[in-house]
Amino acid sequence: MTEMATSRTSNGRRLLEWLDERLGLRKIWTTVFARSVPKTNWLYTLGSASTILAVLQGITGMLLTIYYVPSPDHAYDSIQYIMNEVTFGWLIRGLHHWGATLMVIVVFLHMLRTYLVGAYKYPREVTWLTGGILLLVVLVLGFSGYLLPWDQKAYWATSVGTSVFGAVPIVGPLLLRIMRGGDVVGAVTLVRFYGLHIWWMPLILLGVLGIHLYLVIKIGISAPPEREE
Ligand code: HEM
Repeated sequence: MTEMATSRTSNGRRLLEWLDERLGLRKIWTTVFARSVPKTNWLYTLGSASTILAVLQGITGMLLTIYYVPSPDHAYDSIQYIMNEVTFGWLIRGLHHWGATLMVIVVFLHMLRTYLVGAYKYPREVTWLTGGILLLVVLVLGFSGYLLPWDQKAYWATSVGTSVFGAVPIVGPLLLRIMRGGDVVGAVTLVRFYGLHIWWMPLILLGVLGIHLYLVIKIGISAPPEREE
């Protein structure tokens, strides 16, 4: 038994060595996860918490697309089906729903932390700028996702929300038409918001987050400011 276990371990180790020689796995691991960081505190984990929440939102969102139907005739019923009929559908939807709110809060707190310790200064200006784009993307994800259940709250919240953009001087009416795809919130709006929610925004998030995390690793995390003696 022990011999079998040992041989399995050495087989696993051999496979790892084989892969490492070809893919440089150890180097990736030490660069990404085992890199040295300055002594920090819990506030410095908010970026990683945002990353984990983004991954969870991605997974639960992908699961929801299995049953969700983005058409005015079926959207509401498909959500009811997910909540009442699909095994653990209520859990997946609940995680996605509350995860969205939590993500906005956590990303905002992460931004506040980087602002308060001055982490936006040289050489992290681009990290800050990409972070600004990420905040916008997270807000658009929240706004576009809110319409998808197609219930009264979703419909009227989006009617009011989009009309705010209609009040922008000069380009307002055009902006409103582009967002709604017509004069009022309707089938085109739903499809447009669905496209934004599952396709455009996640893609932009993935790309910009890639740059954000690349910079965090390349530049290294800033040390908390200390009082000068
Ligand atoms: C989806 C949203 C975001 C994710 C997943 C994310 C992820 C991360 C991670 C993992 C780190 C390293 C750990 C940490 O400092 O907590 C980090 C650092 C940083 N982030 Fe973000 N971030 C996001 C949004 C933002 C926003 C909105 C801003 C500001 C506008 C921002 C600015 C920064 C800066 C300046 C750093 C460097 C901090 C330092 O070196 O002390 N991030 N981010």
